[in-house]
Amino acid sequence: MSAAGPADLTVVVTGRRMLTAEVCEFELRRRDGGLLEQAEPGAHITVHTPSGEARSYSLTSDLSDRSRYVIAVRRDGAGRGGSRSMVDEVTEGDSLTISSPRNAFELVDAPAYLLVAAGIGITPIRAMLIELRRRGVRDVQLVYASRSREDTPYLDELTELVAFDEIDGLMQPMTLHHRFLHGALDWWPLLESPGDRHLYVCGPEPLQNELRALTMHWRPSRVHMEDFAGISAFGGINLPFDLEWQPSGATITVPEAVTMLAALEGAGIDVDSSCDSGTCGTCRLRLIDGEADHRDVVLTESERRDFVMPCVSRAKSGRLVVAPL
Ligand code: FES
Repeated sequence: MSAAGPADLTVVVTGRRMLTAEVCEFELRRRDGGLLEQAEPGAHITVHTPSGEARSYSLTSDLSDRSRYVIAVRRDGAGRGGSRSMVDEVTEGDSLTISSPRNAFELVDAPAYLLVAAGIGITPIRAMLIELRRRGVRDVQLVYASRSREDTPYLDELTELVAFDEIDGLMQPMTLHHRFLHGALDWWPLLESPGDRHLYVCGPEPLQNELRALTMHWRPSRVHMEDFAGISAFGGINLPFDLEWQPSGATITVPEAVTMLAALEGAGIDVDSSCDSGTCGTCRLRLIDGEADHRDVVLTESERRDFVMPCVSRAKSGRLVVAPL
């Protein structure tokens, strides 16, 4: 586990409310009442939870208001305790250490948008909706999937937002899909004709895989995916590769079923880590040479040239050279 990093900030919890039986919203502010770092829709912060685990959560409120960040946390009873400790233990007045906002799910300027959220995946999508409404973008469609009406965070607020905009003629109606009620959703009619839309998807990996397969005819630059369940280091095809630790020149082999991080630790090279799922940003290393197979949700496209997250990422080339920050 790592301690807080240099860019970390201590904030105070100024509000919490249960949005559903499992999802709790937290409002975070600076203790001195000052402004928080500017964030854009799609950004997330990493929170050092009471359990000691670091967890990444999307910012979900109006990001033009820099007096507060708002996150929503789904209590995962089967998880490693990070979300459980947030929902069960964190109350108003508590302090939390958070990272600076990072954004690997940026909202690009486009004439039209199709926004797809599944369950807690609504959090970055909600911030995008608020921003697009402020910009007066006319062609925005939201598809919001969840298990049931009771399991749908922000449903009433979104319904109001969309209802208001229907009157304004600014937005198309929201499509709500409750899996327990409606069964499987047929995505094809929504995706068949890309037009000039950009697609934003925040939901679990199976949904992303399905939508990726159905958007093969879309321009890749118009399809944007976010998955905060974390990315498994063993989810893709893993090949062994050589890894050079630049400070010592030592070269180790990373076997196919071992992460870069574990291989480094096995060689006596200690790298700070926390989430082990490519979401918190703690384990970041400099990428000196070689082509990485990036599997994290932390690094932006431009950062991927120079950095790598060894807890999940691997190599496309047979050899990588890395160094500490
Ligand atoms: S340990 Fe969190 S991104 Fe690697």
